[in-house]
Amino acid sequence: MDVTDLRTVFHTQDGVVHAVNGISFHLEEGELLSVVGESGSGKSVTMMSLLKLLPIPPAEIASGTVMFDGKDLLQMELEELREIRGGKIGFIFQDPMTSLNPVFNVGFQIMEPLKEHLGLSKKEARKRAIELLELVGIPGAADRLDDFPHQFSGGMRQRVMIAIALACDPQILIADEPTTALDVTIQAQILELIKDLRKKLGMAIVWITHDLGVAAGISDRIVVMYGGFVVEHAKVDDLYKRPLHPYTRALLATLPSEDGGEERLKSIRGTPPNLGAAPTSCPFAPRCEHAFDRCHKENPALERIEGVHDVACWWDVEKEAPRHAS
Ligand SMILES: Nc1ncnc2c1ncn2[C@@H]1O[C@H](COP(=O)(O)OP(=O)(O)O)[C@@H](O)[C@H]1O
Ligand SMILES: [Mg+2]
Repeated sequence: MDVTDLRTVFHTQDGVVHAVNGISFHLEEGELLSVVGESGSGKSVTMMSLLKLLPIPPAEIASGTVMFDGKDLLQMELEELREIRGGKIGFIFQDPMTSLNPVFNVGFQIMEPLKEHLGLSKKEARKRAIELLELVGIPGAADRLDDFPHQFSGGMRQRVMIAIALACDPQILIADEPTTALDVTIQAQILELIKDLRKKLGMAIVWITHDLGVAAGISDRIVVMYGGFVVEHAKVDDLYKRPLHPYTRALLATLPSEDGGEERLKSIRGTPPNLGAAPTSCPFAPRCEHAFDRCHKENPALERIEGVHDVACWWDVEKEAPRHAS
């Protein structure tokens, strides 16, 4: 999948909210890409834009292409896009619109996409639903099809969500903070499950999280978002060994230290940017310890530093000097 120059705004009573400001990234077959950033950085809006799951209006996808299998999802007829949603692209979002429906038993909710997208008969769908529940580690799968969502624990409900997302054997799984609401032990179990499923099924995964620590353990590559922009992009090892954006560095500094010494969970100083105006300066500048005059005047574009390492910053944190003569 190739996303290019995606821009999404919301038209609200208080004016235009610039949620996603021209971001690009690509996803290779079978890889795990994490999208990391603080709450409000535009991660969910980006992912929902890809599949046009936002209410339009107030949302408007102002520009961009999302190429998948040779076609632009943003130009596709709604009917064709519906085939892809939950078919070739499975997704787990936090919002209630795409979560389990309390009124139907989970068997029905898993079997529905199987009948709709794959044309399975009721009997075939039932058999596959049991396989899927077993795949995601739900004990006594066959006996649980008739149970309703409230009869499952939080962790088990999330497993059911994953089973639904995987039902049609997708090429891509988009998982938007699927472990955030769960306690730490269950989170770890879901992460293990995802790693395991990826080995077994080989789909590509876009993993959205505000937690760089979680992303570390599972990703091939990481995209760091800030204020609706991609500010850094690198292979996971490079990002940890050689973070180039002051925001990435700040995120890393908020992680508990590895030697288990003093657990430093400080938050990044300052507040996230106001998205009410299209930025004409670096959105991170007001919070950045390295900001100099250029940062307050011009917004740096994402530029390739080496290999697959990109950063959008006027300051070279390694040389401790401006990256370019201005
Ligand atoms: N329906 C909406 N109307 C107006 N603004 C919205 C709406 N949905 C999201 N936003 C704004 O878009 C920005 C990005 O939100 P989001 O993508 O949910 O962030 P993240 O997922 O990174 O926490 C936020 O500032 C949020 O307030
Ligand atoms: Mg979100």
